[in-house]
Amino acid sequence: MIPELSETVRNLNIGNYRWHLFLCADQTKPLCCDKAESIVAWDYLKRRVKDLETVASVFRTKANCLRVCQQGPILLVYPGGYWYRNANPEVIERVLQEHLLGGKPVEEFLFATNALSE
Ligand code: FES
Repeated sequence: MIPELSETVRNLNIGNYRWHLFLCADQTKPLCCDKAESIVAWDYLKRRVKDLETVASVFRTKANCLRVCQQGPILLVYPGGYWYRNANPEVIERVLQEHLLGGKPVEEFLFATNALSE
């Protein structure tokens, strides 16, 4: 592999993380929620993922739009393909604590699932 790419893979812990979270935030066209609200949610997610890095290996991705465009911010959690609505900091914290750490999805804010097939 190209050395620079190998270093990036190592630095980002790609290949070892357990979860991948996508959050609709800082959108070009903020349709699902107020843009400022989405940035607050994204900043919160970034901070908490860092806080929890010793107990939960989480990769995070800021998505410009997850195409749901209502009741956002929209949060998508893999593995499992869990789609959450209204992902403000309080909901994000519940997803981190109850779903990722506790193994129980937060049904109250879950609106769809798609585990994808192999
Ligand atoms: S703008 Fe958030 S899902 Fe489209």
